[in-house]
Amino acid sequence: MENFDFTNIQNIIYMFSAMLFITGIKMLGKESTAQKGNFISATGMLLAISATAINIVNPLIALVAILLGGIIGAIISVKVKMTSIPEMVALFNGFGGLATFLIAWSQMNNLVNDIAILQFVLVVITIYIGGVTFSGSLVAFGKLSGRINVNKGDVLANIFVSLFYLSLIAVPVTLITLSIYIETYQLIFYMFLAIVILGGIGFVLPIGGGDMPVVISLLNSFSGIAAAFAGLLLVNNVLIVAGSLVGASGLILTIIMAKAMNRTIGNILFVGYASSNSSSSKDEGEVKPINAEDAYLILENSSSVLIVPGYGMAVAQAQHVVRELGELLEENGAEVKYGIHPVAGRMPGHMNVLLAEANVSYDLLVEPDDVNPTMEVFDVAIVIGANDVVNPSATEEPGSPIYGMPIIEVHKAKTVFVLKRSMSSGFAGVQNPLFFKENTRMLFGDAKDSISNLVSEFKEL
Ligand code: TAP
Repeated sequence: MENFDFTNIQNIIYMFSAMLFITGIKMLGKESTAQKGNFISATGMLLAISATAINIVNPLIALVAILLGGIIGAIISVKVKMTSIPEMVALFNGFGGLATFLIAWSQMNNLVNDIAILQFVLVVITIYIGGVTFSGSLVAFGKLSGRINVNKGDVLANIFVSLFYLSLIAVPVTLITLSIYIETYQLIFYMFLAIVILGGIGFVLPIGGGDMPVVISLLNSFSGIAAAFAGLLLVNNVLIVAGSLVGASGLILTIIMAKAMNRTIGNILFVGYASSNSSSSKDEGEVKPINAEDAYLILENSSSVLIVPGYGMAVAQAQHVVRELGELLEENGAEVKYGIHPVAGRMPGHMNVLLAEANVSYDLLVEPDDVNPTMEVFDVAIVIGANDVVNPSATEEPGSPIYGMPIIEVHKAKTVFVLKRSMSSGFAGVQNPLFFKENTRMLFGDAKDSISNLVSEFKEL
């Protein structure tokens, strides 16, 4: 038993974990299997962590760490509101980055005693990606939760952007300098750690408004790439596999999101930073409020209705009454469709998830490309807590920060009802000319209350 080599068993468990990760991810692709897929992937992760923990010097410490991390993670996941999930994802990406940053840092001491060039390059690159992911994700968390409000062009943003570019240069400089002065590496190395963290802040600080979803998925991809590098450093197969999976899927998601915003990734990161405080102060004219009774009279006579949900529907948790209204409209003889924008809400597929929860049939959901060409046919478009994704500035105002982003062109419908509580702007912080259009009526109030009022009107029939 003394010569027992646990490594082989460990590798078999790792392989099994990797299979569970891949099966789980595949199952996430469908609403009906997503929950099970999530559970299968989590089981794979538990196996992988347990197999690693058993083989380390003090498994008890590892066990305590697993329990503590598991409990904290479970509490956060249970408590988090659906609308705050992107913030939570940003934080989790950051923790992933921090873990790899610390792993690579800890490997530096070994390298000083036994220098191997490939290891050395790996340490520096892992520290860079992990560190930028960590501090960048914290800034993303701050921005999404409204705690940080810095935009492109602000002095602070400019200072930090310079630090980001400096951190890029610091990678080769550190590699060269350290390979020459490895015995007295401390000062240079610690300066590198600091510039990496500051660089991560500069990477995300100027990015705002509608571009945040792309940045979050890019940081998610970075956290995976950093983990894969850490896996190479530690020669840990499961870390390489899990990191590559996160890195690749995050990158695919980033490309999909950028496409949905009609922007290139380079444009988002380095050129066209969308500002979130650039709301135009231009006087757009008067808005025309409407009450539920009058809105009902118009809806009652409509033969085709498009429902366009957005972030406000999620805040109001109005999805169930929205489904009820949809059914009542259908019973009244109207054809009802749901226009779903890919970045409506605060996470990919946010509206799909909410509507599925309320049992709205998937067949009724239409994407902007499919519904826009037939928009003139709709008697009424009901915008429920959506703002940026129906903002005509994206197609009509070349100077607008959201210019170029595809939208659902509700302003082309015969009549538009916009359900929101006030005249405040959406996530991108820009004014919405839709509210002032001739065919738009504003139904002010909490989305759930407004829809419930419409439902009551129909039921009183
Ligand atoms: P937003 O443009 O954020 O607008 C949401 C609107 O909902 C607000 O104008 C708000 O107006 C209204 N609202 C909030 N609570 C409400 C309530 N209880 N009842 C009624 N209305 C309520 O939403 P959107 O059109 O869905 O666009 C999403 C934006 O978020 C895009 O800019 C997108 O880029 C960004 N983003 C998306 C994601 C992903 S992946 N989906 C992630 C991060 C950011 P009032 O306050 O006046 O009510």
